[in-house]
Amino acid sequence: MRKVLFTLLAATMMVSASAQQKVLVAYFSFTNNTKAYAEKITAITGGDLYEIVPQTAYGGENSNYYDETTRAYKEQYNTGGEQRPAIHATLTNAAQYDVVFLGSPIWYSKSPRVILAFLDTYGFAGKTIVPFVTSASTGISKVNEELPATYPNIYWIEGRRLNGVSDADLQTWVQGVLESATGIEDVQTTQSDAPAYTMSGQQAPEGYKGVVIQNGKKQIK
Ligand SMILES: Cc1cc2nc3c(=O)[nH]c(=O)nc-3n(C[C@H](O)[C@H](O)[C@H](O)COP(=O)(O)O)c2cc1C
Repeated sequence: MRKVLFTLLAATMMVSASAQQKVLVAYFSFTNNTKAYAEKITAITGGDLYEIVPQTAYGGENSNYYDETTRAYKEQYNTGGEQRPAIHATLTNAAQYDVVFLGSPIWYSKSPRVILAFLDTYGFAGKTIVPFVTSASTGISKVNEELPATYPNIYWIEGRRLNGVSDADLQTWVQGVLESATGIEDVQTTQSDAPAYTMSGQQAPEGYKGVVIQNGKKQIK
């Protein structure tokens, strides 16, 4: 009986720990490869699934994406394309989410510009975001560099390329992400001159003491 009670208590604690975090799985997917992983992450987390939809759909980019006349190419290389192509801003109550899994294909080694448009639209200051991508072959390193550098007031967890990842591996990774999003094991003490932001997204004044986000990482001042 005592063992049963303990098991029940342990199960309750696990559920309530994860229930504290409200998860959003937001994705842009042109040919549905990334969408498949977004759906799996949603099933694992029990979060809300949200598709980022450009106001103007992309065209024949997939047939030859190194064609310099395509819209995607011009956006990505800033050769006359929109740097923040308009999206349908239909996400309601973005502020309710603690953790965002943010999915996209890799376009020209980076995130499609609609991902940046999404981040500009909703801000997510002080929230935790973890990117995930699919690609033909390119790794995720430039995504992991560009997004934290462009949005330093978000707490970024290193993202992952998911092509070929098994369901079991995906589950382990997602659970690890959720644990590190709540845990304090990645909180560091540091000295740096980079701008720091409080958990409410305001720039921390000089001499501020407490938890801040600096260089895309949660730290204690
Ligand atoms: C415009 C465009 C640019 C792309 N650039 C790259 C690239 O730089 N490296 C790569 O490995 N794959 C590249 N791809 C391939 C996609 O990343 C890959 O097919 C991805 O899985 C598509 O995901 P989706 O179906 O969710 O759109 C590109 C595809 C398109 C349409």
